[in-house]
Amino acid sequence: MSTLLQLNFKPLEYTGNSLRLLDQRLLPTQEVYVECKSADSVIEAIQLMIIRGAPMIGIAGAWACCLASQEIKDLSKLLEKFEQIKAARPTAVNLMKAIERMKNTLESNGISLLEAEAQKITDEDVQMCLSMASHGLTILPNKAEYSFITHCNTGSLATAGLGTALGVLKLLHQQNKKLRVYATETRPYLQGARLTTWELNKCGIPVTLMPDSAAAFLMKTQKIDAVFVGADRIVANGDTANKIGTYALALAARANQIPFYVVAPSTSIDLSLESGKQIEIEQRAKQELIEFNGKLIAPESIDCFNPGFDITPGELITAFITEHGVKTKPNL
Ligand code: MRU
Repeated sequence: MSTLLQLNFKPLEYTGNSLRLLDQRLLPTQEVYVECKSADSVIEAIQLMIIRGAPMIGIAGAWACCLASQEIKDLSKLLEKFEQIKAARPTAVNLMKAIERMKNTLESNGISLLEAEAQKITDEDVQMCLSMASHGLTILPNKAEYSFITHCNTGSLATAGLGTALGVLKLLHQQNKKLRVYATETRPYLQGARLTTWELNKCGIPVTLMPDSAAAFLMKTQKIDAVFVGADRIVANGDTANKIGTYALALAARANQIPFYVVAPSTSIDLSLESGKQIEIEQRAKQELIEFNGKLIAPESIDCFNPGFDITPGELITAFITEHGVKTKPNL
């Protein structure tokens, strides 16, 4: 197995009667694991962002269904719990798709095959990460040195495998290519500062942290080969929901003639929606903006606009890299 997959941390582990999660809220200063012993505690972990990232919350949701089946014996009550798990966060379609799979398994086979299905969802994600990474390498010109921008965290903390956007960069590094990754802080939750720099450090990949607001200036003044981001939901016309700030990066990339790639598994594609306008965008708590490390940094009484995600129009996306290859339209 690839050394990049031999992580010395396990973001998610099912024990048979609990789900052990690396508490991503405490990274990079503390590596603490929390043990979720019920479906409700997994729902809470997803909502509190103990675990996050579109593929990862789908996987956590699938295992939560297994925990629910140990607690609830009545079929209609169990299906109700599945619906609650599915609604834990609204934007990433991976969660909805994973729970639909668990529901279909329950309805056709009863509870006996739920764990096998959750394991299948997890294992498939590992494989999709590997395929996306190798397809991603095919679009890169052969060079001595590369510089990339990435946003949020799309690595092993967000998937069961190498990651999506970060997976491509990790595989390039494994092929002994010289690269530098500019990671945005990803305000306000700081997934880039706290998680991506931590993860790339662990892989030995040179990383430079920058405020989100520095990205356009970096693109204008330095040679940047491409921007690589993940996705929470890609709809039929190519519009893509991803972490807030992605749209601004895509606009800056277009203005500076830099390729902008979305790397995502087919589990992030939702062809039932025609346009990004139909995607529900999670609105996050005002506390994330007015507080920093528990201290007020803005008057408490003010109003805040704090969407967790934005929509990048499909026409700003150079290509979608899925497990099936590199495409200009998000067909499965
Ligand atoms: O709010 P988060 O941290 O769950 O948001 C994560 C992102 O927006 C990621 O870019 C996306 O889920 C892809 S992760 C492979």
